[in-house]
Amino acid sequence: AVGLMTERIGRQIISFRETDSTNETAFKLAEEGAPEGTVVLAESQRRGKGRMGRRWESPPGMNLYCSIILRPAILPLQAVQMTFLSAVAVARAVEETTRLVPTIKWPNDVLLSGRKVAGLLNEMGAETEKVNFIILGIGVNINMDAGQFPADLRSPATSLRMETGGAVDRKEFTRALIRALDSLYAAFLVGDYGVVRDEWLARCGMIGRRVHVSYRDSVVAGVATGIDDYGALLLTLDDGCVERVLAGDVTLV
Ligand code: ATP
Ligand code: BTN
Repeated sequence: AVGLMTERIGRQIISFRETDSTNETAFKLAEEGAPEGTVVLAESQRRGKGRMGRRWESPPGMNLYCSIILRPAILPLQAVQMTFLSAVAVARAVEETTRLVPTIKWPNDVLLSGRKVAGLLNEMGAETEKVNFIILGIGVNINMDAGQFPADLRSPATSLRMETGGAVDRKEFTRALIRALDSLYAAFLVGDYGVVRDEWLARCGMIGRRVHVSYRDSVVAGVATGIDDYGALLLTLDDGCVERVLAGDVTLV
């Protein structure tokens, strides 16, 4: 795009004042053939979507809500690699614009001082063996104030502004994010997924730590030792066995 000088991401940027969900808008555009690298932005979302059917608070005028269309030639099983890529890109953009060092929480949260500052929700358009497109959904709390969060989010969530004590330029953050995504995606396309994985692991606050993973009614305890190429968290259980965890909520214990 003009001024961005990126190879792919941001060559087309479509901005809305309000949408139900930028992920849904991007999904429809992708089905209609929108090119790879298309970025959908909205000032606010009526029904921002979080993981596992949850909501994403999306008030106007202060945060970033964006969804990016990618068309990588990968198998549906590998699509989680794109989630790791977007987490690393968000972490880079946070660091570049605030000098704060975020941590990543598997599978897809970006934290500052242990609180969630960004959430990622990737969705896929696929046939059995082939990915048609992937939507990278990224929500970042930029200038939200503590009082603007609903009461139940006040302790688990934060914003860049709450952490730095000053307003952060949303445009500048968006540019930094698009550039980071573009450069990581370019590396990915030439077969350099290792760059993404290594940076993800280096930024992940839970590797080497004891965690509980809960999913529906069960809880598994162990030491988080890594991730595999399909997005699973590798958990070393007390008996030494390694379990691949594919979904759940992780807490440090
Ligand atoms: P339920 O109907 O089951 O209560 P819900 O759709 O109201 O579900 P919650 O279960 O309350 O959703 O989940 C909201 C979750 O999303 C919280 O755990 C919180 O971490 C997260 N969340 C939502 N919006 C934001 C945001 N802007 N910043 C950080 N976290 C957010
Ligand atoms: C999570 O639960 O952590 C994921 C939150 C993802 C929120 C972003 S905001 C832009 C995009 N559009 C959506 O409806 N959700 C994602």
